[in-house]
Amino acid sequence: MDEIRFLLNGAEVRLRGADPLRSLLDWLREERGLTGTKEGCNEGDCGACSVMVTDGEGSRALNACLLYLPQLDGKAVRTVEGIAGPDGSLHPVQRAMVEMHGSQCGFCTPGFVVTMAVAHLNGARDHDDQLAGNLCRCTGYAPIVRAAEMAESAPVPEWMKADREAVGRLSAGGSGRGDGRAFRPATADALAAWYLDNPDATLIAGATDVGLWVNKELRDLPKVAFLAGLRELQGIEERDGILRVGAGVTIARLRAAVADRLPALAGLLRRYASEQVRNAATIGGNIANGSPIGDGPPALIALGATLHLRRGDERRQMPLEAFFLDYRRQDRRPGEFVEAVSFPAACAALRCYKLSKRFDQDISAVCGCFNVTVEAGRVRAARIAFGGMAGIPKRAAHVEAALAGRAWTAATVAEAIPAFAQDFTPLTDMRASASYRLTAAGNMLWRYFHEGAGVATDVLEVAP
Ligand SMILES: Cc1cc2nc3c(=O)[nH]c(=O)nc-3n(C[C@H](O)[C@H](O)[C@H](O)COP(=O)(O)OP(=O)(O)OC[C@H]3O[C@@H](n4cnc5c(N)ncnc54)[C@H](O)[C@@H]3O)c2cc1C
Ligand code: FES
Ligand code: FES
Repeated sequence: MDEIRFLLNGAEVRLRGADPLRSLLDWLREERGLTGTKEGCNEGDCGACSVMVTDGEGSRALNACLLYLPQLDGKAVRTVEGIAGPDGSLHPVQRAMVEMHGSQCGFCTPGFVVTMAVAHLNGARDHDDQLAGNLCRCTGYAPIVRAAEMAESAPVPEWMKADREAVGRLSAGGSGRGDGRAFRPATADALAAWYLDNPDATLIAGATDVGLWVNKELRDLPKVAFLAGLRELQGIEERDGILRVGAGVTIARLRAAVADRLPALAGLLRRYASEQVRNAATIGGNIANGSPIGDGPPALIALGATLHLRRGDERRQMPLEAFFLDYRRQDRRPGEFVEAVSFPAACAALRCYKLSKRFDQDISAVCGCFNVTVEAGRVRAARIAFGGMAGIPKRAAHVEAALAGRAWTAATVAEAIPAFAQDFTPLTDMRASASYRLTAAGNMLWRYFHEGAGVATDVLEVAP
């Protein structure tokens, strides 16, 4: 692999010939002796490996176990060893953790401290959300959240601002060169040409899926391309009421971009994994991996999204639902990649319901997304899509047909619900049984109906 340059706790690192699929976590611990960054799960679930990564856009917490060295080119990494000041003075969140008794065995503590320090730097005060990706088995969360609250008013230490200033001096982005195994394209054109010649290669965007193939399935990936430096795939543009979101846009950026006008989508994305995973995972990866339980596709299908694909110089587009052919089989030709997805920038009727065993940081058992347009009391159009109900993210075409043109009443909803059984034959697996899934899908339609009538249906709205 050609040279990778980044800052590590303020000092420049230059790596030549590094294994492109070595995780930052392993490298920190084994090559640098920075063992404060812990390995808990090695799959993005526990946050013990949290590090702060800064680039021109800002600083964010990421899981070092799902981060490869080439993804860091041109960025700055700060580990827990770099959170205290150069003279050893504690960061305000460290001091608060001591004072609030936020640590017992201490294994999770470095990860919490890093995540809290990033939130503190960014002025984030939604501590439950910020910390949902950090697991603690012994202290309990109340003292930790109290520590985060206590640190809120303390000024950001100077050393925490240094990465943002220093990172501009590093050259960022792909080199455009490869070594036969790993390629870091500098432009989308370079990616398109290279992928056409190397259609068997694995594209790596946020690595929140691919990282698990390597860490857990011990898969060998002989040829990879890292998309992290491709600014052209990271744009969000609006034209004539349509948002075009580049494949490389992270879930965190997408959530922020739709917060005002698509609050239902933003609310769903709030429950997508954790802060660390949302900061890495891309919408292009979420679509391209073809998972039947991904959260992005059902919402985007309900919105009527269009998928934009590119192969060499050829481009084509299709309704997003047409991309998913069968379980893990997508309409993607060799050498073709996802360039962007586009969808209406606003949709007042959209609602998304995610059902999972845990509220935070859990994969959907069922994810139902509803977009029913009612005019003069009648259903003018209905787009309803589900994850977790079939081998692919799929529209509920029979239910949509049962609603179309009918009066939007409880009687119509009751009559439409049996059509879910025509649309879906769900599986029984560790997340839910087939009958639970089918019942839940129908109940979600009831929920949508009642919510539209102004009834409080959100568990978060239930007063204690
Ligand atoms: C702890 C944890 C929690 C998670 N929780 C959720 C959740 O709540 N909801 C959810 O939906 N998902 C969840 N996921 C899954 C994962 O985050 C998503 O699928 C994610 O969006 C993948 O994006 P990525 O950029 O990380 O993809 P990568 O891992 O980089 O790639 C995934 C796949 O897409 C391909 N790919 C990537 N970009 C492109 C492109 N532009 N064109 C063509 N192919 C491409 C890759 O080759 C690979 O096959 C979770 C994952 C983890 C580890
Ligand atoms: S080790 Fe658990 S998230 Fe990385
Ligand atoms: S203090 Fe022991 S796991 Fe958190």
